[in-house]
Amino acid sequence: MCGIVGYLGGRQAAPILLEGLQKLEYRGYDSAGIAVIQNNAIEILKKSGKLAQLRAQMNGYMPESTAGIGHTRWATHGRPNDVNAHPHLDCQGRFAVVHNGIIENYLTLREWLISQGHVFRSETDTEVLPHLLEEFYMGDMVETIQRVIKKVDGSYAMVALALDEPNRLVAARHDSPLVVGLGEGENFLASDIPALLKHTRETYILEDGEIAVLTRQDVEVLDHSGRRVDKKVFHVKWEAAQAEKGGYDHFMLKEIHEQPRALKDTLSGRIAQDGSRVILNEINIPQEQLQQINKVVITACGTAFHAGLVGKNVIETLAGIPVEADIASELRYRNPLIDANSLVIVISQSGETADTLAALREAKRKGARVIAVTNVVDSSVAREADDVLYTWAGPEIAVASTKAYITQLLSMYLLGLYLAQNRGTLKDREIAQIITDLRKLPDKVASILENGTNIKEFVREHCNCENAFFIGRGLDYAVAMEGSLKLKEISYIHAEAYAAGELKHGTLALIVKDVPVVALVTQQALYDKTVSNIKEVKAREATVLAVATRGLEEVSKVADEVLYIPRTHQMLTPILAVVPLQLLAYYMAVSRGCDVDQPRNLAKSVTVE
Ligand code: F6R
Repeated sequence: MCGIVGYLGGRQAAPILLEGLQKLEYRGYDSAGIAVIQNNAIEILKKSGKLAQLRAQMNGYMPESTAGIGHTRWATHGRPNDVNAHPHLDCQGRFAVVHNGIIENYLTLREWLISQGHVFRSETDTEVLPHLLEEFYMGDMVETIQRVIKKVDGSYAMVALALDEPNRLVAARHDSPLVVGLGEGENFLASDIPALLKHTRETYILEDGEIAVLTRQDVEVLDHSGRRVDKKVFHVKWEAAQAEKGGYDHFMLKEIHEQPRALKDTLSGRIAQDGSRVILNEINIPQEQLQQINKVVITACGTAFHAGLVGKNVIETLAGIPVEADIASELRYRNPLIDANSLVIVISQSGETADTLAALREAKRKGARVIAVTNVVDSSVAREADDVLYTWAGPEIAVASTKAYITQLLSMYLLGLYLAQNRGTLKDREIAQIITDLRKLPDKVASILENGTNIKEFVREHCNCENAFFIGRGLDYAVAMEGSLKLKEISYIHAEAYAAGELKHGTLALIVKDVPVVALVTQQALYDKTVSNIKEVKAREATVLAVATRGLEEVSKVADEVLYIPRTHQMLTPILAVVPLQLLAYYMAVSRGCDVDQPRNLAKSVTVE
């Protein structure tokens, strides 16, 4: 998830581009760069690190130009260094491109372009784009971009600057956001509205498959077949601060709504085209070592640990290997039984959590193979692990983790399937079925988000409660733990999660009239048992909100309210069931007037023990 900008007008481009990038730094800040046309050449200024590093390098210098593009990077393919920073150029420096997204077939394209004589400088997927432009350019940028996008698979929002056409900017989008800002004698492009607001509130929001052709006086939008689209002008009413949250009141809500996209990006390029198997090119465990693994240990903190609890269940079921899930701050001090035949999976959004890093080091010291599942390229856990599976959630700003968690869950399924494939523990048909269902999850999460309003009623009735309980069995128990953590950390309501069958061993003493109990009921095989537990708390006059899979409608006879999630493979329900719980926590916190994005006493990256 990067930020891109473009400007074509009568003013100096460089300061406008830099200001725009500043507004987009929430999308990533691994490097920043701009490209402008000056003295009949494309001049590139770029630097790793935040925009401030680029400004420091420029030391007040501003190139003289009225046309340019810019980029702030959140590294995906290639380390966050100067060379991999955007914009990227073709061999002769005639085309500059900024890109947000992932070109999935870049390796094939890169090999082909090299065979045609192109010379690559960076490790990025993006660099294929300027070389493709160079390869196909016949005097018209629009035709060339149309040809290029037919060649690329994956997601992109891109803007190209061509030396031969200094009075045009051409941009295209597929699965990554891009907005045109409409000015007087000048026009703008940006990944998001905050970068435009200083200059204009009149915009075109580009749709997938559209190409925007900017001149100083005009903006033409074409569809995928080259027909002119009659775009409606979208007038932005939000204030600048709100716009950084994409119109949402809080980053947390924005990030909850980004989950379908985060899931898509994390799946992208990791499933064979025919859907028969997962492909994890980033995991390079030798076949012999894979066969010798006799134990998996998953370690992490907080929400990431909750993803690990789901991972334990999933990997044991799919790959038939015993799995331990342990909190990193516990594992590091308990002399765990880990050796060269252990596979250790560390999960960390930030990749910098002190306890997780220490657990990783302990595992390595004991000779284990370590896979890191992390959201931040080149983070400490990414650098120190043997293999890294990146979650492409994009930068998470709210302290309470949502979109990172859901992509961590997805990573557990990918790793479970990967191990199952390599150890032959599942039939091809079973793998293909799970993959089919995995691919449908982004749309199913989107459908839950569209129906989020039912939760608000429950929130109104219970936002003044002091205690809440979450119950579930099996995978539902792991999700209950995450639901309970979300609620307590942002709304300050005391919340506890229990394995539903465990209530009667003590906790039932706390269940009194009107106490809210959130019951997860997504596991068909455990349905009757969980329903009995709901009856137990109902007998003590608790109010029960059930989160249940469609098809288990009978639960409405015992629960006070039911939020339904779409049907999916029984093992995949955590990805759907957590969404209503995130929304519940969010709306509870809002109605209690809490600081949702920055709850008291907490920090996003916990780099101390
Ligand atoms: C809760 C939350 C934390 C983190 C934990 C680990 O919403 O975000 O519990 O999950 O601090 O952080 P990472 O994943 O960065 O290692």
